[in-house]
Amino acid sequence: MEGSRIECVSCGAAFQGREDLYGCSQCGSLLQVVLDTKGIRHEALRDAWRDRPFRVWRYREMLPVEGGGEVTLEEGGTALLHVGILGPSGSKVHTFVKNEGQNPTGSFKDRGMTVGVTRARSIGRTRVICASTGNTAASLAAYASRAGMECIVLIPSGGIARGKLAQALFAGARVVSLRGTFDDAMRVVRQAAERLDAYVLNSINPYRIEGQKTAAFEVFEQLGGRVPDWIVCPVGNGGNLAAYWKGFRELKAIGATDRLPRLVGVQSEGASPITDAILQGRDDIVPVANPATVASAIRIGNPANYRKTIPAIRESNGMALKLSDAAILEAQGILARSEGLFVEPASAASVGGAIRLAREGVFKEDDRVVCIATGHGLKDPESALRAKGESLPIDANVDAIVRAVEGGAR
Ligand code: F0G
Repeated sequence: MEGSRIECVSCGAAFQGREDLYGCSQCGSLLQVVLDTKGIRHEALRDAWRDRPFRVWRYREMLPVEGGGEVTLEEGGTALLHVGILGPSGSKVHTFVKNEGQNPTGSFKDRGMTVGVTRARSIGRTRVICASTGNTAASLAAYASRAGMECIVLIPSGGIARGKLAQALFAGARVVSLRGTFDDAMRVVRQAAERLDAYVLNSINPYRIEGQKTAAFEVFEQLGGRVPDWIVCPVGNGGNLAAYWKGFRELKAIGATDRLPRLVGVQSEGASPITDAILQGRDDIVPVANPATVASAIRIGNPANYRKTIPAIRESNGMALKLSDAAILEAQGILARSEGLFVEPASAASVGGAIRLAREGVFKEDDRVVCIATGHGLKDPESALRAKGESLPIDANVDAIVRAVEGGAR
């Protein structure tokens, strides 16, 4: 939509018409799109939204890119599944999983990329770049292909799941493997972009967050026009949780609701700078030099969006948790065995976080808790197989099969 501007989240400096700002030129902080919601009322939009496909671009009045030339793979419109994972003690709590693995490349990143790559095209860019723990790379590569753009991805060598690497390579991205961590890749991406004349599509790009916030609009509609009591979301750079917050706040601003959810950010014990800052009451993070976790998607020690994420959690009266790898893998198993949903480890962190809070009695009766399952389990079969092991082959005869099954073989 037209009535939007780019603004610094810290000093409020406004930037109109600048094409590729990824940070405030005044103070170095993060930028956000500020939507002028004055003329937008939910009553007027509700019917228009209902008449359109359940997808990201259904909400085009809330997006800062003019419609028409969208670069789309029909992303969004993912299921919100009612699940029973919180067990008997939590059975009065209504728990849902937003299954973002249903997006075209298998993660929530596609919501941001359809808007980000559309923006890139609208300002005449033909080359895009990102640093990535895998999903951003897979998604950007796909949308760049769709738009006929060149794509460069910077990844930590040996640090991303193979499914994601395969996706990026197959889409024709230039995959540059760097010695170091994701944070090292993120540290150099903007300078590399300048030298290579490429448009950065990490979540420091405010247009990415705009696409991602549509998941909040969907959850609202899927709950019958209600805001959930809790959003529980894995946190890496922290862009996605901030996107949910922005989405719900905009719903409030256009008069769709007067409520906001409480946000729960979940990190892994080995990579928890945002959780630690919240727990210690700090506004800044202390970067983790060598982040380590089985959840490679959120193996991030110096999260780029903490200046959005920490205030969002605080303002929402929310909380932040950190889970052990064992708890993350346990949650991944519970979701697959009890609901048939195979998600990648980072995504299972949200479910693990909800299980922990239910055990601690944090949720009240009739609370609606939405766990964000950010990416598909098939992205990272290796970590799943390491956790489960593979069965040894037996002879292809029926007696042997029955013996194997009834003997308790997998
Ligand atoms: N879950 C998955 C599956 C992810 O891929 C990511 C981030 C997150 C959660 C965390 O989201 O960074 O917005 O807090 N992956 C990025 C990438 C870093 O490069 O694919 P966040």
